[in-house]
This record gives sequence, C-alpha cells and structure tokens, in this order.
Amino acid sequence: MPELPPQVTPPAVTLDGRDPHLIGAEIIALPVSAEGDSWVLGPGAAAVAEELDLLGVLESERATGKAGEVIALPVPGGTPVNPSLRRVLLVGIGSGTGDDFRRAGAALARAVRDRSTVHTTIPAADPSVGLEPFVVGVVLASFSFDWRAAGPASHPVESVVLSELGPTYVVDRDRALAIALAGWRARFLATVPSSVKSPEWLAQQARDVAASAGLEIAVWDEKALAREGFGGILGVGQGSANPPRFVRLDYAPAKTTRRTPHVALVGKGITFDSGGYNIKPGEGMSTMKRDMTGAGVVLSVMGALAALDVPVKVTGLLCIAENMVSGSAMRPGDVLRHYPGDDSARTSEVTNTDAEGRLVLADGLSYAVREIKPDVLLDVATLTGAVKVALGQQVGGLYATTDALAAALSAAGAETGEAWWRLPLASVYEEKLASKVADADNSAGSPGSITAALFLQHFTGGLPWAHLDIASVGDAPADRDEWTPGPTGWGARTLLTWLAAGAPA
Ligand code: BES
Ligand code: MN
Ligand code: ZN
Repeated sequence: MPELPPQVTPPAVTLDGRDPHLIGAEIIALPVSAEGDSWVLGPGAAAVAEELDLLGVLESERATGKAGEVIALPVPGGTPVNPSLRRVLLVGIGSGTGDDFRRAGAALARAVRDRSTVHTTIPAADPSVGLEPFVVGVVLASFSFDWRAAGPASHPVESVVLSELGPTYVVDRDRALAIALAGWRARFLATVPSSVKSPEWLAQQARDVAASAGLEIAVWDEKALAREGFGGILGVGQGSANPPRFVRLDYAPAKTTRRTPHVALVGKGITFDSGGYNIKPGEGMSTMKRDMTGAGVVLSVMGALAALDVPVKVTGLLCIAENMVSGSAMRPGDVLRHYPGDDSARTSEVTNTDAEGRLVLADGLSYAVREIKPDVLLDVATLTGAVKVALGQQVGGLYATTDALAAALSAAGAETGEAWWRLPLASVYEEKLASKVADADNSAGSPGSITAALFLQHFTGGLPWAHLDIASVGDAPADRDEWTPGPTGWGARTLLTWLAAGAPA
C-alpha cells in the first residue's frame, strides 16, 4: 500500500495580551467595519492609523468593510512606534456576526499563506462572539492536501497570534481549536486517496485517535464480523481485496451520574464506492474516496470530546467497507441479514449494489440499539445523490424523529457555519420499501433521500434518532470562506457544538 507524503500542519494559535506594535510584530491584521458612512477600525489600529493614513487607504481602495475583504498595505520602513512593521492587513468584519468572523479568519489565512507569523486583533474586536469562529476560519481555510513531487504548493502561516487577548481566553481558544482541528481531521480523512485508505487504514486511524484522546476502542475484523452477524457490512465489503471493519469508540465525561445522557453516533465508512455491480459512471465515481466522510466525522468528533469537556457519554460506531466489483462481490438480488444475524434480525434484498451505505449503517444502528441502548441515536452518511439534487452543495439534509432534536441540531449547525434543512420521514413512502423476498428493498426509489432514511428508521428501535445525509455537502467545488476545494468533513462542527452544549434533546 502506498504511503502518504508528509502533509501541511495547521497554524499554531496563541494568545498575547499586548499591543502588537509594542512587541515589534511584522505583519499585523486589523479588523475593519463600516458604520453608516464612517469606518470603525478595531483594536491595535490607533497606534498607526494616523502615521499610515489608514482611513485614506480604505477610501482610496474603495473598501466596503464587508466580511472577508482584505486590503494589504506594505509598510517597507516600519513606523516610529513599530520599526519592525512591514505589512498591515485591513480585514473586513462586516457587522461582526459569528459568520463574519469566520469569514474574516478564512480570508486572513489565504492572505498570509507562506508567511511565518501574523499578529491580529480581529477577535479582540468582540471576543465573546468572534474568537471561536475566527479560529475555525483561520485554521480550516489553511487546509490543503498535497501529493506533489515538489511538496505542498503552499504552506499555511505557521503561527497566528491573537493580540490583545490575555490568558483569560485560554479556555475559549482551546475550545475553538478543538472544533477547528476536528474539522481539519474530518477533511483530511475524507481527502486521503483510497489506494491508501483501506478499511484497515481507517480503523488504524481510529486506534491512533483513541490512544491520543484516551478513548476505549474495539475493532472487529472480518472474522469477528462474521461471528457476530454483521451481514450488511460483510456483504458490502465482500467484493474487496481490503476486508471490512467495524469500530466502536467510547467516551465518558470525568463526572457521570445515572442521569448523564448517552449518545450513539454511527458513521458510514465506505472507503471507496464504485457502486459495485450497479457500477457508477466515471463522473459519479470520481469523488467516491470521500464516501467514508460520515465515519471520518464521527471519528473526528470522538477525538475532540475530552478537549471540549463534553458532559455527555458518547459512543462512536464506524461501519467501514470498500464497495468494489469482483468475483466475490455481492450481486443484485442477494439477501443480507443484518446484525445480530439471528432469526430476530431484519433482512435486506439488494436490488441495487450502489445503495450500500444503508446496508452498512443498518448493522451499526442495530448494534447501537441492542448493545448500547443510547438516549439518542444519530447517524451521519454521504447517503444519497438525491439529497444533493434537493439541497445543492451548501446545505445538508437533516431528519429527526423529534422536533427538539431537529431544532437542537439545526441551531448548532447555524452557530458553527454548517447549514441544515429538515426533510420529512414521510411514512406515505414506506410502501416503496417492500421487497418480494426480504424485510426491505435497499433501493426503494424516489424520493431517494427520504426512502433511504425510512429504510434506516427500521433499525433505530424507536429511539429518538437523527439522520444527517451529507452527500450534498461532502465536496466543496471551490475556495469559499473556510471551505477549500474537495472533501469537506461537513458535520464535525455541528455535532461538537451540539454535544458540548450537553443537549441531546
Ligand atoms: N455514496 C453514494 C451517494 C453519493 C452520491 C454521495 C453523490 C456523494 C455524492 C451512495 O452510496 C449511492 O450511490 N446512492 C445511490 C442510491 C441509489 C442507488 C438508490 C444514489 O443516490 O444514486
Ligand atoms: Mn453507492
Ligand atoms: Zn455510497
């Protein structure tokens, strides 16, 4: 199996209570917003505003102050108060919402690529609103994945110093970084090519995360899967030279009582989706290395729970298989028996081998219901092309069995910059799941995202359940705010925001 070359690392983000001019900062990024006809320059501007005629610069550059606008001002000889100063970046923060700060952070990251350090007072303009989204923006817009002869095309800035923010902000900074780095990890995992990313490779990533985050972990190999009746994961994975895996990770907060809620997160981990015998056309297959984004999101979330002091017990379940074509692959018409594989287990007729996600998730959900009995069950999956048709590439599909759960997840997503739209578990389409031979047909047809959700619902044991269909948002088409082109790892921030608020609902 080929080995990955070394990758770029995210910028270090540190706090420094001092005025950046007084410590000889070379590159300083200052926040700018427009209020009516006049400019508001944020902290750190006063010391150089007159000397450098910052208002004149904004005027002549026809600045608007809108979030993410960057005006770069070279200062070749420094200023009397800061002789080391070489460059001032005037960064728009719009009206100062969380989204604006995230956008400003992302724009700054792009403006200081290949530099070593930038000092910025942007979050100091309004730390209670701006610190977390700014850090998320500056870190995630720095992401890249490179496999080139000459190494990465560019490097993220090595160090971002949050000036005029003292040690009282350490907890907020750490929380922001934990969320940002979970997003980074989810994006990285989804971006790794499938020549490297076998099911065992992904399971090994989970072992590494568990070791560094202090989580309990168990990994099922193909023999253990067979012994314990994971017929969905085995069926989907049986055509691949790289055998399937199932991973369980467990987190418990430092203090638990009998009332501490328990959440189970189930992720679709198809390390490559060729479609199987119902093979995908070339274009549709070209991004299918990311069909494990759900599992990558769950793993990244698990790795960040301790750092965020999440007050909820969380179990992460990764359903990992590669969906390939071969002499041993599953065929249309095959019937799979899901976990636990005994007479009580539901069966699925595989009328389409490309509807594999629900087959592996069914095992994971069924395992959660029978072995964990959580208070809330949630799955996240790049499940259907249909959700992309419905919602486009900037809104994820959300299903929930309770209004409270839908509201909590939507609110968490809105806060952290991942938008969701709730779709209905419309039981009128239930009849489409009927199979001639099994408990359900795995490819019930249109409306495709809804019938997939209804298929899954049979495995949720009537528990409060949410299903995130992230096929729509799994790939970003271009650089936009904190997103970089390619796999997004969408969902990690939503789940962490929701869990850190202690709010299963
Ligand atoms: N992994 C795909 C869904 C997908 C499509 C993800 C586009 C990201 C972008 C999934 O396994 C799939 O192939 N779903 C089929 C289901 C159908 C055969 C019932 C689909 O949506 O076409
Ligand atoms: Mn598929
Ligand atoms: Zn798939």
